[in-house]
Parts: sequence; C-alpha cells; structure tokens
Amino acid sequence: MAGSVNITAATVDPALLDLPWNLPLDSWSNEHIALLPKGISRHLVRFANLSGYVIAIKETTSEMARREYDMLRTLQRLDVPCVDPVAVIEGRTDDDGKPLKAVLVTRHLKFSLPYRAIYSQTLRPDTATRLVDALAVLLVRLHMVGFFWGDVSLSNTLFRRDAGAFAAYLVDAETGQLYEGGLSNGQRENDLEIARVNIAGELMDIQAGGRLAEEVDPVQISGGIVDAYRKLWKELTGSESFSASERWRIAERVRRLNELGFDIEELAIRTREDGASVRIQPKVVDAGHHQRRLLRLTGLDTGENQARRLLNDLDSYAATTAKPGLDEEAIAHEWLMRVFEPVVRAIPADLRGKLEPAEVFHQLLDHRWFMSQEEGRDVPLAESLTSYINDVLRHRRDEATVIAPMTEAITVPVPVADDEDDGDDWTSKV
Ligand SMILES: Nc1ncnc2c1ncn2[C@@H]1O[C@H](COP(=O)(O)OP(=O)(O)O)[C@@H](O)[C@H]1O
Ligand SMILES: [Mg+2]
Repeated sequence: MAGSVNITAATVDPALLDLPWNLPLDSWSNEHIALLPKGISRHLVRFANLSGYVIAIKETTSEMARREYDMLRTLQRLDVPCVDPVAVIEGRTDDDGKPLKAVLVTRHLKFSLPYRAIYSQTLRPDTATRLVDALAVLLVRLHMVGFFWGDVSLSNTLFRRDAGAFAAYLVDAETGQLYEGGLSNGQRENDLEIARVNIAGELMDIQAGGRLAEEVDPVQISGGIVDAYRKLWKELTGSESFSASERWRIAERVRRLNELGFDIEELAIRTREDGASVRIQPKVVDAGHHQRRLLRLTGLDTGENQARRLLNDLDSYAATTAKPGLDEEAIAHEWLMRVFEPVVRAIPADLRGKLEPAEVFHQLLDHRWFMSQEEGRDVPLAESLTSYINDVLRHRRDEATVIAPMTEAITVPVPVADDEDDGDDWTSKV
C-alpha cells in the first residue's frame, strides 16, 4: 500500500491508490507492471495495469510532472491528438522516509505503438514515409493551436494504424510551450528543423542496428517531413487570389480541405473594389472532417482515414443496397446493423485485441478487393470475412496492448506483422 502521497487529478481511480508508491519505480514487481513496447526516453517510464486499462508512469521532478500534466490537459482541451493525463503524484517517500521522485501518470494509448514496434524485420521506405507524414500532420495541428514542441521526434510520438496510414499522437510534452498569439514563422521553422534532425538521427540508429531497409536514406526520409509539413500548412492557412470569373475556386478550396480531413470554421472572402478579383483565406480549420461525419451518423469513433474508408462503404451501400428515399441517418443506421456490426461480431473473441474494429473493417475491404481481383468475381463480404479472419487476422500480433514476452524498453524491434508482411515471423515470438 502506498503510504502518504499527494495526488493531483481531475478524477481519481481508487485503484491508483493500490500501487506501491512507496517503492522507486524501477523496483516495482511484475505483479504491477505491464510489459508493453516503449520508446526511448530520458526518464524512467513503466506501464502498470489498472482495472481495465493500462497507465504509463514517468518518474520526474514535481515541477516537470505538473507542468507536463497541465500542458497535456490543455492540449486535450484544444483537441490535439495526445496522451491523456491522469494524475501527478508527489510527496512519495520510501519506508525509511526517504523522498522518492514525483510521477506523471498518463493513460496508455490503446492500439498505439512506438515507431520501433511498427515494423518487423526492417523498416521499409514506404512505412518510414508514412510515419513521417503522420508526424507532419501532428506538427501542423500543434502549430495551428500555437504549440511549440521543442523536441519533435519519432520517440516522442505514438502511432496508431489508420486505414493503411498512421495517425500520430504527441506523447512527450515536457519541452513544449503554448503561445496564445500563435507561433511566428521562425518558431515553426525551428521546430521543423528539430524534427528533421531528430528523425534523421533516429533512422540512423535503426540503420546502425541493421534494421533499416537498404534503400532507405535517413536524410531523404527525414527531409520529407519538411516538405509534407509545408505543403499541408500552405493548404490549410494560405490565402489565394483569383479572378472573379473563377469563383468555383472557393468551393474547390473547401473541397480540398475537406478531402485532407479538415473543416473550415470561417472563410474570409474579399473582393477587390472593381470586383475583378477575389481573395480567400481559410480562418480556423478543424481536423477530423470525416471522423465527425462518421461519428454523427453512426456513433463510431475512429481515425480520420478509417472514417473515410467506412464512409465510402456506407455511401456505396446507400447507392446500391438501401431503399431509395431513406434519409442519410436511416441508411447509416441500417449499414451499421447489417454491414459493420456483423463483421465486428464475427471476430472471434481471442482475436479482438489484434486490431481496432475500424482497422479490421478497412483491412477486410482490402482483402475482399484482392480476392475479387484474383477470382474475377464480386466476392461477398461474408465470404471474404472467413478468409480474412483465418488467413490474415489470426497471424497478426495483438496491438490492443501487446502481450508478453517482450522486453520493456525496446532496443531491438519486436517482431510485428505489419501491412506488407505475410505474417511469417509472427510465430517466432509466441
Ligand atoms: N500514455 C502513454 N501511452 C503509451 N506509451 C507511452 C505513454 N507515455 C509514455 N509512453 C512511452 O514511454 C516513452 C517515453 O515517454 P516520454 O514521455 O517521451 O519520456 P521522456 O520525457 O523521458 O522522454 C514514449 O516513447 C512511449 O513509448
Ligand atoms: Mg521523450
């Protein structure tokens, strides 16, 4: 039992009190510790099982823990993808009354992986590029709310699969700073340079360990974050001028932003006095365009790309199967009951920790497409489902919370069946 400690939290799970706070984190026994893949860090970070979920515990100073806790709460409020802060615990002492370090407790992000756990044998160029692209989106979103990260890196980011791409979450906010008035271009460039250098270093580390596919050039891939970032930033914030006869470009800009997954809260439109030209400037943009539509229609909360994929399937259901004249909500409800939920229910219980339901559905659609190509006919979803479960899903490693045996801090990548894998190496770690 914990002895006396100070807990700062929005809501306290009483199970938190049962953890051995009177012991330094490195001497906690396996009874409490959850063995999950973890990125490289300065501080000691370990995972612990609470009732029904996992927490990450970082030993640091009181000041740092409080600061990071507050920062993460603010970022959560601003709707930026980041880990969820649970508590700061201070005033710990061991049984001899000797003070112990303060800790920051965050909720382990379900189905997330550190970058080193994403690939199996070697990190391939397209996977590396997708990681960097996801990080670029995260960085743009952070910068849009005025957050200067200061330590942008793959290690300080968690990745979730998102329909063949990745969605990135900030995990380490320790060096961050929020600027109410937004960031200057210099500050953004500074962060971007930090990102480029850190990523190059991280890829070189993997290379030194012989785990980087030969054709991957760390400098080129890390440079990719700069390009991806600039392109997205410009699309989200840049102003555009065109002649008054080209007013369709207003709608076109909105469509492009939606396609990228962003919503516009306001579009400033200014016409020149003589009416000859129009200038537009998107004001506030919100990520999660498809996520929100899917959530509104079905109640499903997924990644942006997963939502895009599910909505496509829903739209094609509306076009081909649903009774004409039904409204969008009714069709969505029908699709959920007749298409999506039967798939989720059909997944055997022991395979449910492997991937999120929305990711399973995405992969199933891909699988059906491949089967249909191969067999030259439209394979029904139910038929492709059996084949997908037995030939694909069964051979993946669990990702809900990755199961032991596994070293706690990953110094060599753990075998994970990733998208391009045929899953052969899975058996080696059972
Ligand atoms: N809430 C969390 N969910 C999942 N993994 C986490 C969480 N918090 C920390 N980690 C893991 O621990 C590692 C180190 O955490 P971080 O906050 O970066 O520590 P440090 O400040 O010492 O660098 C991360 O790379 C990540 O893999
Ligand atoms: Mg870190």
